[in-house]
Amino acid sequence: PRKIIIDTDPGQDDAVAILLALASPDEIEVLGITAVAGNVPLALTARNARIICELAGRPDMPVFAGCDRPLKRPLVTAEHVHGKTGLDGPDLPEPTMPLADGHAVDFIIDCLRSNAPGSVTLCPLGPLTNIATALQKAPDIAARIGQIVLMGGAYFEVGNITPAAEFNIYVDPEAADIVFKSGVPLVVMPLDVTHQALVTSARNDAFRAIGTPVGLAVAQMTDFFERFDKEKYGSLGAPLHDPCVTAYLIDPELFTGRHINVEIETGSDLTLGMTVADWWGVTDRAANATFMGGIDADGFFSLLTERLARL
Ligand code: BDR
Ligand code: CA
Repeated sequence: PRKIIIDTDPGQDDAVAILLALASPDEIEVLGITAVAGNVPLALTARNARIICELAGRPDMPVFAGCDRPLKRPLVTAEHVHGKTGLDGPDLPEPTMPLADGHAVDFIIDCLRSNAPGSVTLCPLGPLTNIATALQKAPDIAARIGQIVLMGGAYFEVGNITPAAEFNIYVDPEAADIVFKSGVPLVVMPLDVTHQALVTSARNDAFRAIGTPVGLAVAQMTDFFERFDKEKYGSLGAPLHDPCVTAYLIDPELFTGRHINVEIETGSDLTLGMTVADWWGVTDRAANATFMGGIDADGFFSLLTERLARL
């Protein structure tokens, strides 16, 4: 299995991404989960990550708290999407497992230094603050990261937090800029992909029909999450953004994309956090990311439902 660290700001869709990884031990070995401030403040994302580990029957999973604010800006949160706790919807118990000792950034650095170069994949599902801080604090780790597979950005689907920007990149554009310039191989799941991964009512019924606490919680989480996108965008259901990252690790063939240059806007107030993706190759800037554009949505949902049923 591929060794990964999940860096996350749960978030209902982050929660489903974590569950999918924990349900797939043949393909994925989760070394630890690092929480970052994003959808809700850090205290809640660190809490929510532990709630999900306990739901998955994995109270042994190390969960670390990381950065509580972006590198250079005040935190912007998304309670309007995810609810007050970030995990509104199901009625899940408060976690009893403790947080792991130490800072998430130090855990990321230590893991990369103690495992063989290239053997650890980072999976950021929120703002890139923890990852950028680790790269700044320990520049030697860049050469040791196998790949970064992240959810963030948009091209044709433009923005969901401003007209130009996707939430994860917008919240900490300076951190995103560091990551996109790091030279580490990047795979990016932008809104272009995730807005095709919609929980229609039939797909929600399939989660519920699993008939386990996990199946029910996922159905309730996506029920809650979808009211925002349905009202706001007239979408057919909740977009499962972050699970695209963990699905890619299990079956990359579900996705298609292009290896292109992607730069992050950090200067303009109007387009702050925009992922300027050279999809058509109109510049000679070097490619730095595999930017996905297509997903086999039916294949993705059958994989997800089948895996969730294992927990
Ligand atoms: C991203 O922002 C968050 O609200 C979701 O969890 C996802 O990571 C989508 O823009
Ligand atoms: Ca997220």
